[in-house]
Amino acid sequence: MKKLSIAVMISGSGSNLQSIIDACNAGSLPAAVKLVISDRKDAFGLERAKKNGIPAEFIDPSHFGGREEHETACAASIDREECKLICLAGYMRLVTGWFVGKYSGRLLNIHPSLLPSFPGAHAHRDVLAYGAKVSGCTVHFVDENMDSGPVIIQSAVKVLEGDTEETLGKRVLEQEHKAYPEAIKLFAEGRLIVKGRKVTVDTII
Ligand code: GRF
Repeated sequence: MKKLSIAVMISGSGSNLQSIIDACNAGSLPAAVKLVISDRKDAFGLERAKKNGIPAEFIDPSHFGGREEHETACAASIDREECKLICLAGYMRLVTGWFVGKYSGRLLNIHPSLLPSFPGAHAHRDVLAYGAKVSGCTVHFVDENMDSGPVIIQSAVKVLEGDTEETLGKRVLEQEHKAYPEAIKLFAEGRLIVKGRKVTVDTII
């Protein structure tokens, strides 16, 4: 099977990026990360990419007149590397309808809660403040709205008494590192069938 070429867009540590790279290297994911794009110069994920010999680009949003202009520069790199799947992994920027349309059906995101509960940038804080007993992570297709596209995989994590954002975040992140490569594998195998909001997984016969 031909390997799926992936671009990963990050803003920070890039531990999800690492889990994708590791799954590719281990041969459990028939894919290769061809490009890493960050909107932050100091994102540690850029170092992770370089260590693995993957082209890594900091594309500075402040150099562009608006979001679409910034995304046009990102898209030029993505298309140059002929990436077929774009994975947002801790990318802290809302993408425009233009970007979503351009990569329709091939743009994924991971969010650290069980969507549609607790979207946004402070999921763990919001889960704890609400007093929810269960949280987790969601891998989903990206649409025009924040954290709202069709769900591919969710993994639940119990909220424990005394949890802090850090302790809950750490346990959720462990699940993220399994869920994202798993979702990408289903995509790479062509097994994801999307009908409206619903994603089903084709069984291999
Ligand atoms: C993850 O929890 C991800 O779900 C969220 O931001 C965090 C990024 O972590 N969107 P990392 O940069 O992959 O380590």
